[in-house]
Amino acid sequence: MGAVGAAAPGFDEADAAVVRRGIVLVGFMGAGKSTAAALAARAFGEPELDTDRLLEQELGETIESFFDREGEAAFRAREEELLLGVLARPDAGVVALGGGALGSERVRAALRGHVVVWLEVGAEEAWRRVAVGERPLARDRERFERLHAERRPVYAAAADAVVRTEAPPEAVLAALPALGALREELSRAGGPLRLVWARSASGDYPVFVGRGALRRGVFHPVGGRRVVVADERVAALHELSGDWSLSVPGGEAEKTVARAEEVLRAMARAGVGRDDLVVAFGGGVIGDLVGFCAAVYQRGVRCAQVPTTLVAQVDAAYGGKTGVDLPEAKNYVGAYHQPAAVLVDPDVLATLPHEEVAAGYAEVVKTALIAGGPLWDQVRSGADPAAEEVIVGCLGTKLAVVAEDERDEGRRQVLNLGHTVGHALEAATGYRRLRHGEAVALGLLCALRLSGQEALREEVAALFSARGLPARIEGVGVDEVVELVARDKKRRGGSVPFVLVSGAGAVSPGHPVAKEELRAAVDEVVCG
Ligand SMILES: NC(=O)c1ccc[n+]([C@@H]2O[C@H](COP(=O)([O-])OP(=O)(O)OC[C@H]3O[C@@H](n4cnc5c(N)ncnc54)[C@H](O)[C@@H]3O)[C@@H](O)[C@H]2O)c1
Repeated sequence: MGAVGAAAPGFDEADAAVVRRGIVLVGFMGAGKSTAAALAARAFGEPELDTDRLLEQELGETIESFFDREGEAAFRAREEELLLGVLARPDAGVVALGGGALGSERVRAALRGHVVVWLEVGAEEAWRRVAVGERPLARDRERFERLHAERRPVYAAAADAVVRTEAPPEAVLAALPALGALREELSRAGGPLRLVWARSASGDYPVFVGRGALRRGVFHPVGGRRVVVADERVAALHELSGDWSLSVPGGEAEKTVARAEEVLRAMARAGVGRDDLVVAFGGGVIGDLVGFCAAVYQRGVRCAQVPTTLVAQVDAAYGGKTGVDLPEAKNYVGAYHQPAAVLVDPDVLATLPHEEVAAGYAEVVKTALIAGGPLWDQVRSGADPAAEEVIVGCLGTKLAVVAEDERDEGRRQVLNLGHTVGHALEAATGYRRLRHGEAVALGLLCALRLSGQEALREEVAALFSARGLPARIEGVGVDEVVELVARDKKRRGGSVPFVLVSGAGAVSPGHPVAKEELRAAVDEVVCG
């Protein structure tokens, strides 16, 4: 992480005095906290404090037997007393907390002086790991799942970092350098910062999110020269220092093979090498273009994404799809290349024109429909799409999908919701008249019509209209769009499968759609 200046404006001064001492691992039963604590303590050369073990020493018996004899309230009181003591210790290096410890308000307050890492695990995986054990709260599956659902928001609210642990201990080991960087950064008291650990089959990487992060000079990873390729408008508005930098125009019309060649040749002339870190600083166009250049330059160099539009902060910067358009079709030339890191500063969205925010809103609504649950509830109740909570909810949804299926062979296809018609509309308008997000908004309305979700379509149309997104595009013919859909690169055996919706949180790929139905749905969003 780079040097950090004064506390960011608007940042609570009380926080400035806090030096984050320990790494405190929290999470549900079976998340792997004890294993992770041992690994982290060894890596950081610091003492490991496993509070369940300390508690058993103090009780002089196992937690299970004390819990069974004295009951949960008596157990929680003893646990709280011990945890407050441990968290106040000056040598609190790496601390693993029991799964229910965050039920205490006093414990939650005591976490303020530490870096709280939530080891996230799904209910099913957690049950698989602990069901054979003796734990008092893991004897009845239904109760276990209820508890898992109840505790999730408590962990989420307390966490500075989230690491999913479906593959322990590798995920935790890989995340340690980023966790160390997070602790260092938080201890500088420059402002809040969160870490979300992204997993994918071809590699894991950290996503840092924090208001004012750019202004504070937060950056990760360090090492090698920093080669910044920026959107020229962004470079004029925001600063990101580099050892070498280049500005190129943004906008879809610039996402071309010719522009990629220009960037690649400039990199070659500047002597960019395999040890350097290429940084894409701009919206989704720059992220896709520069990510593609990094993927193919010398057969692949590291690339960090610093997204500056809502589209890029909620969607485009994650998941490793990079590429450029051909005049014939969008994203036809590309490569998978996972970023080395993503740095998200929601403050940079302050300079984004409102039409661009609206375009990003389409991706927010799409992602919330895929996620369902709390994210959809937030979005449908009119939450500000640029709010950090919404951005984190969206990126978490995308990362979870990509972790399951990096290469678009199954689950990942849901992210294409609204994009089949959306991409055809972009191509039909020469990539100039419609922003990507505006096209996705129209495509999403078509997908909801094709899904037979009238009420949901109306609700989404009202959300779009409140943000100023167009409900129709003029000067485009239905036949042309249907023809372009048929050329979609996801077509299989002559037909293009659609992503359809049977409710918020219930989105699935691979649905055939009859040509006449498609015509009718497209007819509602275009007029020739
Ligand atoms: N790779 C993926 O998974 C993925 C996902 C979604 C979208 N995308 C791609 O993303 C692209 C769309 O991205 P986009 O909507 O960010 O477009 P964009 O990158 O063209 O940015 C939109 C406009 O905003 C300007 N801009 C950027 N940041 C700004 C800021 N902070 N302040 C002021 N102006 C700013 C740019 O100069 C540009 O004019 C499309 O090409 C789409 O295919 C990729």
